This record gives sequence, structure tokens and C-alpha cells, in this order.
Amino acid sequence: MARAPVYYADYLKLDRLLTSQQPESLKEGVDAHDEMLFIIVHQAYELWFKQILHELDRVERDFGAVPVSDDAMARIVHDLERIHEILKLTVAQLDVLETMTPFDFLDFRDLLMPASGFQSLQFRAIETRLGLAAETRVPLDDKAIEERLSPADRTALSEARERPTVFVMLDQWLARTPFLDWGGASFRDAYRQAVEKHLARDADFIRADRAMPEEKRERELKAIDKAIASFAAIFAPEGDGGGWRLSGPAVQAALFITLYRDKPAVQPAFRLLATLMDIDETMTLWRYRHALMVERMIGVKIGTGGSSGHAYLRTTAERHRVFADLFRLSTFLIPRAAVPDLPASVQARLGFVYST
Ligand code: HEM
Repeated sequence: MARAPVYYADYLKLDRLLTSQQPESLKEGVDAHDEMLFIIVHQAYELWFKQILHELDRVERDFGAVPVSDDAMARIVHDLERIHEILKLTVAQLDVLETMTPFDFLDFRDLLMPASGFQSLQFRAIETRLGLAAETRVPLDDKAIEERLSPADRTALSEARERPTVFVMLDQWLARTPFLDWGGASFRDAYRQAVEKHLARDADFIRADRAMPEEKRERELKAIDKAIASFAAIFAPEGDGGGWRLSGPAVQAALFITLYRDKPAVQPAFRLLATLMDIDETMTLWRYRHALMVERMIGVKIGTGGSSGHAYLRTTAERHRVFADLFRLSTFLIPRAAVPDLPASVQARLGFVYST
């Protein structure tokens, strides 16, 4: 039987999509021209959130497998890059909303109480599935997120929490990375010595700088001591972890990938780490931009969801980071010339050889 021809409006369910903008102000007979923009911008966000979650579904399937095949890794990087592009768009979208002035917003703001973006289930699912740790969350008036969600959304969020997060899958995958043991002198030992030497040299520079005020010198030396301790922690089988959220073997692998990224077999892994940092950075950018927009719209008033508004949101931008460990790696990078050479046997395994 021939398929019925597909009609544009039916395929996109435009009847439902385009009748889903129902301003509260219209119902109340209040004149608030900008509420339409406010609704459409939020709906556009929710559609993009849906697409991000769709990408995360495939990332979860591919990244959760052991081992992760080369084909799967290519797909994971591709999907994550798409998520990053969407996130960039979500930051840019705030410009459109900011064409609404704070005065225009007042036309309908009170009609929205107590609804808030705080209740966006899809946003919570994205944060959660990327791997935002519950203990890093900024508490909001001591009330958990759940209390502000409907029972159905609460159930959906707790289901999302049961799923493996990108962070955990990354940690496990990194910890399985081969190539770190070189037999005899391993990457771990060689690199550890090289980094500790470099950090000690930085400390010597600071001590030798006569122009540096004493207070600043002490602060800088303390920071280096802290860096040395947290670097040592990734080699300790037990211990407090040195403030890392990734496991020691995972951090070592991430360093290896960062240093030897030019090797063909390491390239996909390097792109993966770079894209996760892009995602983390753009999410943080969104949080800052949203916090600034909120300050511009409502000043220091509390949010419709009952938070301290701008102050709460600014703190989330600082604290709600998922892949901050990857940024921290840079503390432990050393100049190219000081990086240990790969043994020939490892080199051979990291290259692609095409010969007849
Ligand atoms: C006039 C525009 C906006 C204002 C004044 C505003 C205000 C706020 C405030 C004050 C909060 C903190 C919770 C509360 O007390 O309500 C919040 C949270 C939030 N808003 Fe907005 N918002 C605006 C636009 C948007 C848009 C367009 C989105 C896109 C989906 C959005 C998504 C969110 C999310 C996801 C949160 C939770 C953030 C978190 O807890 O980390 N908001 N918003």
C-alpha cells in the first residue's frame, strides 16, 4: 500500500505547537505584549533541551559499553559536539529575551508566581545526566529541588538520577585507558618526577623574587604546595583524593591524552576531553548570562520560584561545574621539551600504519 503523502503542518504537529502559547495576561485581560516572547523563548529552550537529552541517550548507550569501540567513540564525540553547538545557541537566545525591558516584564511577572525555570525538568535532567554531583548543588532556601516539582516530574527526575552519568562513564573509561604502563619506567613515574621538578622550580622563582610582597609570596607558595599535594594524591591508592572528583588512574589517563594528543590513536580521546570542557564552559556561560539577565530584569528582588534570584544563580555558575577536573589538568602540564618520550613499542601502538 502506498504511504499517504506527508503534509508539512501535520508532520510538525503545528496545530498543537502553534496553539501552545497562551499568555496568562490574555486570560486576565491585562495588556502585556511581551509575554508572547517570554513564552516562545522558554518553549524554544525546552525544545533544545529535548534534543540535548536525545543526544545524551545515544551517548549513554555508546559510552556505557565495555569496551567503547572506535566507531562508538567517533559517535560520542560527534553527539557531544552537537550538544555544545546547541548550548551556544541557548546562550545567544538570551539576547532575544533581553529585548524585553524590565518595565515590560513587570506587566505580567506577578501572574507567573510561583512558576520558575527552576522547575524545568529537562534542565535538571541535563545537569544530572551530565554528572552534576548532588553534594555540589547550592542549597536553595534549604529546600530540595524535588519540593518544587510536580509528583510526575519528581518521579522522572529520580529516574534520571538512576542512569549512568557522562561523568561516571568518563571516569571509568579513562581508568581503563591502556598505554600508561610502559613496563620498567612507566609514564606515571617519569611524568610524576617531571611535574614535581617543575612545580618546585616555580616555587624557587617565587622565593627568589625580591620585589614580591611577603603576603603575596606566602599565598603563592601555599598554592604551589596545594598543587603538589593534589598531584601526589592521584598516585596514592588510598587517601583523600586531593580534591579530585575523577579517580587517580582517570586523571593520569587524562594527562596522558593531553600530552600525547598528536598520536592518531589518542586524537578521538583528546577531542572527547576538549568537547566536555566546551560543554562545561558553555553551560557555565549560560548560567552567568542568565544570572546577569535576571539581575537586569528584577534587580535584587527574589525569584518567582522563591530563591534569592541573582545571588543564588551567580553562585550556581561558580559551583555547578561538572568537568572542572579537566580544567585543573593544566596546572600539571609541563613544557613539551620536558615531556617523557614514548617508548618505541607504545609509539607503534598509537600510530596508524598503512603499508603493503
Ligand atoms: C525574564 C527572564 C527570566 C527571569 C527574570 C528569570 C529568573 C530566574 C530566577 C530568579 C531563577 C531562580 C529560581 C527562582 O527563584 O525562581 C531562575 C532559575 C532558572 N531559570 Fe530563569 N529567568 C528568566 C528566563 C529564563 C529562561 C529563558 C530560561 C530558559 C529555559 C530560564 C531557565 C531557568 C532555569 C533552568 C533555572 C534554574 C537554574 C538553577 O537552579 O541552576 N530562565 N530564573
